[in-house]
Amino acid sequence: MKHGRSLAALGAVAFGLLLSDSAAAQETAKPKVIPHDTAGRVECLTCHSGAIEGIPAAPASHEGRESDTCLLCHSADSPIQSAVPKTIPHDVAGREQCLICHSGALEGIPAPPANHEKIDVKYCQLCHDSGG
Ligand code: HEC
Ligand code: HEC
Ligand code: HEC
Ligand code: HEC
Repeated sequence: MKHGRSLAALGAVAFGLLLSDSAAAQETAKPKVIPHDTAGRVECLTCHSGAIEGIPAAPASHEGRESDTCLLCHSADSPIQSAVPKTIPHDVAGREQCLICHSGALEGIPAPPANHEKIDVKYCQLCHDSGG
């Protein structure tokens, strides 16, 4: 009896750990919403390059990203703030013009949600990794 209860307690602890682990993973994967005004601050990398003390640097994973991409993910209304982008389930070679197919006009091909309206096709793969 005593044994059974401690096993159950152990299970509860393990489950708790599992939950907090995945919550932590989600937190690190989600970009912070920009905490300051953007007026006069559109050249994000002028400040977030790591060269200015006291200003958080863009992490190493960001190498190659230009300032015109930052708000795609760090704005409050970015799609990535409310969901995890799916991996592209197909090859992308020869399919770089995503919107030819993902426009909503072709039956059986999912259309991007409405919050994608202003996203340029050259940025699709910043969020949707190519898996296949
Ligand atoms: C003039 C310098 C400057 C520019 C340009 C600038 N930022 Fe910032 N940014 C800061 C400073 C200083 C902080 C930290 C203080 C604060 O929260 O305002 C900060 C904080 C942030 C944070 C939160 C970082 C953290 O770890 O809490 C994000 C995200 C961010 N900025 C994104 C951007 C984006 C995206 C742009 C371009 C649209 C941008 N910033 C342009 C100075 C700048
Ligand atoms: C494709 C989405 C995406 C784009 C585009 C992007 N970021 Fe991020 N950013 C993230 C994610 C996710 C994190 C947190 C995980 C990590 O460290 O990579 C992050 C982290 C940061 C941080 C550290 C604070 C934090 O949120 O943890 C800063 C500062 C930052 N980004 C600035 C920038 C700047 C400046 C640009 C443009 C040059 C940019 N980001 C473009 C997704 C993005
Ligand atoms: C020639 C047409 C075509 C092009 C171009 C194309 N796709 Fe697709 N895409 C499809 C089809 C068909 C599916 C669904 C069938 C499948 O899983 O392959 C799909 C599925 C997806 C899905 C998964 C949707 C879901 O609900 O599971 C994502 C995300 C996606 N594509 C992103 C992209 C991106 C990003 C690009 C550009 C780099 C792109 N696609 C280019 C035809 C295309
Ligand atoms: C800032 C990140 C980001 C960018 C950039 C982005 N997406 Fe998405 N996309 C998401 C998120 C988050 C979702 C919702 C979760 C999901 O279905 O992947 C989504 C959903 C989709 C879906 C719907 C999948 C479904 O199941 O209905 C398609 C199709 C898609 N995106 C295609 C694109 C295309 C094409 C582009 C470039 C024009 C693009 N995305 C750019 C983040 C992004």
